[in-house]
Amino acid sequence: LPQKKTAPPTSKSSCRDCREKINKVLEQYSEDWKKQDEHFQKFRSQLSTKCHGLEKATITQANTPVGTKLVYDGEKKRTLQVNPEIFSTFFKGHPFPNKTWHTCAVVGNGGILVNSTCGKMIDSAEFVIRCNLPPLSNGYEKHVGIKTDLVTANPSILLEKFGALMGRRRKFVESMTSYGNSLLLLPAFSYGRNTPVSLRAFYTLEDFESPVQPIFFNPGYLHNLALFWRSQGLRTIRLSTGIIMTSLALELCDNVQLYGFWPFDFHPYSFQTLTNHYYDDRKTKTKFHAMPDEFSHLLRLHSQGVLKLHLGDCK
Ligand code: CDP
Repeated sequence: LPQKKTAPPTSKSSCRDCREKINKVLEQYSEDWKKQDEHFQKFRSQLSTKCHGLEKATITQANTPVGTKLVYDGEKKRTLQVNPEIFSTFFKGHPFPNKTWHTCAVVGNGGILVNSTCGKMIDSAEFVIRCNLPPLSNGYEKHVGIKTDLVTANPSILLEKFGALMGRRRKFVESMTSYGNSLLLLPAFSYGRNTPVSLRAFYTLEDFESPVQPIFFNPGYLHNLALFWRSQGLRTIRLSTGIIMTSLALELCDNVQLYGFWPFDFHPYSFQTLTNHYYDDRKTKTKFHAMPDEFSHLLRLHSQGVLKLHLGDCK
């Protein structure tokens, strides 16, 4: 059997309980991993039966005609009836052509990616999914890669970084160039406040003829996904972007590899202190997200051979 790695003794400045906590996590984790097709197929079929991600994860003109009543997944009482103007912003065609990808990398934003040298391995995936418009240049490339096929954007970033797109919008469009011609997935119908800023993002990209293709999450899919994870025993107010994209990847891709998922303050092997994100130390809102609980589900899927969770560095 491969030897399990354990965290080395802590220095005085490190937290003592953390070492125990991390060793407990590592006990359930083996770097030697083999896909177990039976488990993978079973989990995928449970997901697709309950959530239908392939057809319903995103809003398209085909699955959401004029007149549809959209029910916001974050605010139960809010609905919106699709009118021709909103309909014209919906994706034309199918964002995920009728095939599954061989390998997908889902890149979380955890500080564990710092100095990981995982960039090449991430970029070698056929389809790369990233969360919340993460930075990919200024030296990060080597550790997180540059290839992007799908990237999510939380409207709060648009509010904070780009003045809610109410003023000059060039800076936003320019910052999108690092994502090439990827799909930009926006939760436009999760909360009422998300809708106007997501539409402004759509119009901005269209007006500036950006190659990035904006597309909206289907709130019905997000609702069903929350129910799915609840039925798996996950208790959280709001699923994190990372687990949402992992779930979608499990329907879209035959091999799902996760990077940058490690919601703890210490590196699992070097035991150095980590920042929350690879690019800043902004903390997760624990009021809404239950990332360590989500992580234990991802760890379970790793042990079952459903997906591969990369911890530590890539050689
Ligand atoms: O939007 P959200 O707060 O969910 O995500 P984020 O902080 O931008 O990070 C993207 C995803 O990476 C999260 O949703 C988590 O699933 C994952 N993550 C992690 O596992 N560990 C961290 N320390 C930070 C993020």
